[in-house]
Amino acid sequence: MVDLSVSLAGLELDNPVIPASGVFGYGQEYKDFYDINVLGSISVKGTTAEPRFGNPTPRIAECKEGMLNSVGLQNPGIAEVVGRCLPELKKIYRKKVILNVSGFSVDEYAYCAAAAEKADNVGIIEVNVSCPNVHDGGMAFGTKPENVLAVTRAVKKASTRPVFVKLSPNVTDITETALAAAEGGADGISLINTLVGMRIDLKTRRPVLAAKSGGFSGPAIFPIALRMVYQVFEAVKLPIMGIGGISSAEDVMEMMLAGATAVQVGAANLVSPTACRDIINDLPRVMKKYSVTKLSDIIGEAHK
Ligand code: SIN
Repeated sequence: MVDLSVSLAGLELDNPVIPASGVFGYGQEYKDFYDINVLGSISVKGTTAEPRFGNPTPRIAECKEGMLNSVGLQNPGIAEVVGRCLPELKKIYRKKVILNVSGFSVDEYAYCAAAAEKADNVGIIEVNVSCPNVHDGGMAFGTKPENVLAVTRAVKKASTRPVFVKLSPNVTDITETALAAAEGGADGISLINTLVGMRIDLKTRRPVLAAKSGGFSGPAIFPIALRMVYQVFEAVKLPIMGIGGISSAEDVMEMMLAGATAVQVGAANLVSPTACRDIINDLPRVMKKYSVTKLSDIIGEAHK
């Protein structure tokens, strides 16, 4: 018997595999494919104070080994998420979930976190200071350490739940924003969000995305995400959710060796809707292959 359980800032997870925010909605789309209760947790779509339609289309572009999105934080707003989406999710998923909150001001982040106090199935607040697809919000916060510090402090004050700050890779040194989040009182770090990229259509000779650029995700970014998780693990003594191009049980173990306590799987769910379940099912085989009986034992082992 192998043990897949991990403890994430006080939240006990059966296994470390979590669908990343933005690829799993509020859980409903996936319930017909498999019993989503096998998931360690779920990070729900990034939520803002008011409903948002998002960016104009096209807002998805396929690439080799990945994809670009410029969704622009489409969501029904925090009142609807707390009043309907989270209670609906509770009917089909019995564990605690991660509420990803975003905003255009420090107050908006804090407002969303405070509103989530009413939702008893929220186990962690994930502060998205790294969405590359909106002006004056998201990444505009996440690339400046002083903003990360201010947002983290405000959300910590507004919430009784553990707070993870989701960092942008679009910086020179990700340890600076990780340290700012730690100084602001973060209970953990999620990294990485997408890398800014673009495609140009040869026929129209114009950018494929209406927003011109978008966030690149998928297997191609895995080595970058892994390197940043490794760096952040050395810089701050906080639990990490590793995100970026994870698509196999081997990738999960590599991320954990770099320092992740749990992982979020993003684009792989859009390639195969059963990706997370398949990874969880395959973990025992890969653990046995590498003589691991307790998965949490390998967290950060690559640093020894
Ligand atoms: C989006 O809605 O634009 C994607 C969210 C993100 O990258 O944080």
